Amino acid sequence: MTTTVTTGQAVAARAVDVWKVYGSGEAQVIALHGVNVELERGHFTAIMGPSGSGKSTLMHTLAGLDSVTRGEVFVGDTKLTGMSDGDLTNLRRTKVGFIFQQFNLLPTLTAEENILLPLSIAGRKPDKAWYDTVIATVGLKDRLGHRPSQLSGGQQQRVACARALVSRPEVIFADEPTGNLDSRSGAEVLSFLRNSVRDFGQTIVMVTHDPNAASYADRVIFLADGQIVDELWEPTADAVLDKLKGLDKAGE
Ligand SMILES: Nc1ncnc2c1ncn2[C@@H]1O[C@H](COP(=O)(O)OP(=O)(O)O)[C@@H](O)[C@H]1O
Ligand SMILES: [Mg+2]
Repeated sequence: MTTTVTTGQAVAARAVDVWKVYGSGEAQVIALHGVNVELERGHFTAIMGPSGSGKSTLMHTLAGLDSVTRGEVFVGDTKLTGMSDGDLTNLRRTKVGFIFQQFNLLPTLTAEENILLPLSIAGRKPDKAWYDTVIATVGLKDRLGHRPSQLSGGQQQRVACARALVSRPEVIFADEPTGNLDSRSGAEVLSFLRNSVRDFGQTIVMVTHDPNAASYADRVIFLADGQIVDELWEPTADAVLDKLKGLDKAGE
C-alpha cells in the first residue's frame, strides 16, 4: 500500500496517469485526460486554466474527495486509489487541509472553535506552541471569540487558513481562496500562505484564475481540456498572463 518516491525531491502529492470521466454515452465528459504531476513538499503550486479545464477535478482527486476513473493518486507515500471510504476520511482528517472560496466556517462556532474543529473531530489535541504560532501569524489573537458573522471576509478566510494549518497537514488544497475577497484582503491571505510555505515548510496547492495570485506560488501548472499543457517556475503575474493568453488562442 505504500510506495516511496525515489526520484528528485520528496513529493507531497502525486497523480499518475489520472483519468476522470463523468457520465456516459452522449453525456460523457472527460474531465481529466491522463494527468501526470508531482507536487514537491514545501512548495507552493498554483493550478490555472480556462473554466472547465479540470482544475477542481484534479484538486478533488488529489485530495481524496473524488475517485479517479483510471490511474493512481498519492498523498505523501500513501496511495489513495483503492482505499476504503473510512480510510480516505481518516486520511483527509490527518494529512490534508482545505481552504475554500466560500470559507466554509460553521456559523454557530467561534473562530477558535472553528480552527480547532478538525482536530477535535480526529480526537487530537493541538500542539500549544504551534497553535499560538499559527494564531499570531494569521493575526487573529483578539478575534478568537468572534463568530464568522462578526468577522470580515478577509478575517474569515484567515480563520480558514489557521484551521487548515493547525494540524500540520502533508498538503493544503485551496480552491480559489481569494475569489471572494477584495484585493487587500486577498493579498493578506496570499502573503500568509506564501509565508507558511517559506517559514514552516508547508506544502500548498491552490487553484486560481488570478495571475497576480498565481505569482505568489513557486510554480504554476496550466491545464487545458483535462491535460497539463504547460508550467512556469518563479512566475511573475505578466508571465502567467502571457501563458494564459496563449492557452486561450490555442482553444479558439
Ligand atoms: N459532477 C460532475 N458531473 C459531470 N460533469 C462534471 C462534474 N464535475 C465537473 N464536470 C465537468 O468536468 C469538466 C471539468 O470541470 P472542473 O474540474 O470543475 O473544471 P474547472 O475547475 O477547471 O472549471 C467540465 O466540463 C465540467 O462540466
Ligand atoms: Mg473549478
